[in-house]
Amino acid sequence: MRIIRLYRPKDHEQILAGDVHIGSILSDIPGFQSCIDYVHAESYRRLILMGDQQESRTIDSPYFTLSEVVKDGLSFPELQLEKLIELTLPVEKQTDVVLLGNHEWDLRKVGNFSNRLAKALNAEYGTMSCVVEVYDEDDREWLMYKMYLHHGFGRITSQAKDFEQQEGNKKARLKLMLRELAGDCLIMAMGHTHQDIIVKPTGRLYLYHEEMKVKQAYLHQGRNSRYINPDQRWYINTGSFLVRSTDKLGYDKLPISGYPERAGYAPMVRAFISIEVANGIVQDVKSKRIGEF
Ligand SMILES: [Fe+2]
Repeated sequence: MRIIRLYRPKDHEQILAGDVHIGSILSDIPGFQSCIDYVHAESYRRLILMGDQQESRTIDSPYFTLSEVVKDGLSFPELQLEKLIELTLPVEKQTDVVLLGNHEWDLRKVGNFSNRLAKALNAEYGTMSCVVEVYDEDDREWLMYKMYLHHGFGRITSQAKDFEQQEGNKKARLKLMLRELAGDCLIMAMGHTHQDIIVKPTGRLYLYHEEMKVKQAYLHQGRNSRYINPDQRWYINTGSFLVRSTDKLGYDKLPISGYPERAGYAPMVRAFISIEVANGIVQDVKSKRIGEF
């Protein structure tokens, strides 16, 4: 794990985007392009790539499918990396960190493709998890916030029968998965599960006692300290750029059932995450769903 220090203006927008899976038959390259265009449109937007940028299947992988050879000619890891560099080079100056995903990790016998992408973009290579400390670029002693970023692991599902209960269970699961991995980070984010989940600081009401009176207040977002109450942090799952079926991408002549379809997975969103920072303080976290921003 690495600890990375960045210097930023007090007002900026931190984009977290991951699980592009370039080279997969299901990878939505135009969707990822729209994310890159979004970052490129404003210099205050900064990008961190959360891992699984490329599908990384070698020909001897049990997951390799012949159909993927056909699509865009992006079947091989070297070509996937070239395509990623081509897509992300316009935002080179705005890209700060590139994480390692389990798909790039699968290529460890061959090389470190995430590190190579990071080098091509003059960005920090974040390994599979890192802490990013964001300081004010004017007052360089002022730590604005810290992020714990992990490519991600495990699954986030719910067997509840109602949609709202499912959403609640998934949020609770995400929080549980991340909260012990760092005590001092206001933002705790991971990718990997291909869902866009945002858990806000709770804002719950509490009672306290002062001047011989019972008083009440609401729990606010935490401040920098060695330990931030888990209820006062943000937890984020960063979405993906995978479609469920190839017809969504216009490959009508290539009728293929990808793994989410074969496994009967629920529909997946395509999205990335925007963290809005004003006056050095995290104001809001939003999901940017492809086609809806
Ligand atoms: Fe992954």
